[in-house]
Amino acid sequence: MSRLTEEMVRQVIRWVEEAGDWLDDPNGLRTVTAKGRADFVTNVDVAVEEFLRRRLAGLTPWAQFLGEEGEKGPIDVTRPFWILDPVDGTTNLIHRFRHSAVSLALAEDGAVTFGVVCQPYTRECFAARRGEGAFCNGGLIRVSGTERLADGLVSAGTVPGRRDLADGAFGQMRRIYDRCQDVRRTGCASLDLCWVACGRLDGFVEQFLQPWDYAAGLLIVEEAGGRVTAPDGAPLSLVRGGGVLASNGKLHLPLTRLLEG
Ligand code: IPD
Ligand code: CA
Ligand code: CA
Repeated sequence: MSRLTEEMVRQVIRWVEEAGDWLDDPNGLRTVTAKGRADFVTNVDVAVEEFLRRRLAGLTPWAQFLGEEGEKGPIDVTRPFWILDPVDGTTNLIHRFRHSAVSLALAEDGAVTFGVVCQPYTRECFAARRGEGAFCNGGLIRVSGTERLADGLVSAGTVPGRRDLADGAFGQMRRIYDRCQDVRRTGCASLDLCWVACGRLDGFVEQFLQPWDYAAGLLIVEEAGGRVTAPDGAPLSLVRGGGVLASNGKLHLPLTRLLEG
């Protein structure tokens, strides 16, 4: 049973939407700092994380906090913790590509119990609570019914922060392209997951992501009837990164086999 009440959920979604508006502020982006090759942090990432961290600490003092841009103290997975990606799709933000999101999840008893992903440019807000279905702007969403890889549209991430994995990622992308209808690359993993959840995509794979990239989307896909695992079908960790495969469920096994090569 989640410690978040309905009223708290509504409040948290309002804060995430409010923070999301800063991504769409034409004068909002002022500083860009490289954390690594093709890995950036902007003043918007920092401001969104600080705003939500403070608000959540006030609302849920019982929960720990794991945010992409903050200090990463040890997390006790047996106790509740928030998992935040303040801007998922920072490279898109820097290029004004208008495809980024704020992604926030709550984990309780080692599993995600609430997830929200807000896309400010289209004003789409995806959310789910465990056992209650998945929603976009309040309307119920479901994964696609696609049964054959040949009919599937699959998004494949390019692991920009892990160039050592690029050959494997592009090899997989080619295999997906050969067997499916086509491949997409959007630059925002949390939205890739939400798009699997609402049936715009039939699958999504990336060879390495962090928990803040996938925690919220994982629950949203599962509550929409799909599956999210490691590419070999193993369960995902909420504190350690790894490869991610999401699908409508029907294509999960075929995609696992396809990715094996
Ligand atoms: C990135 C995005 C991108 C994915 C990268 C992530 P960030 O997150 O989700 O789609 O390919 O692996 O790191 O750095 O923009 O928060
Ligand atoms: Ca991210
Ligand atoms: Ca980020």
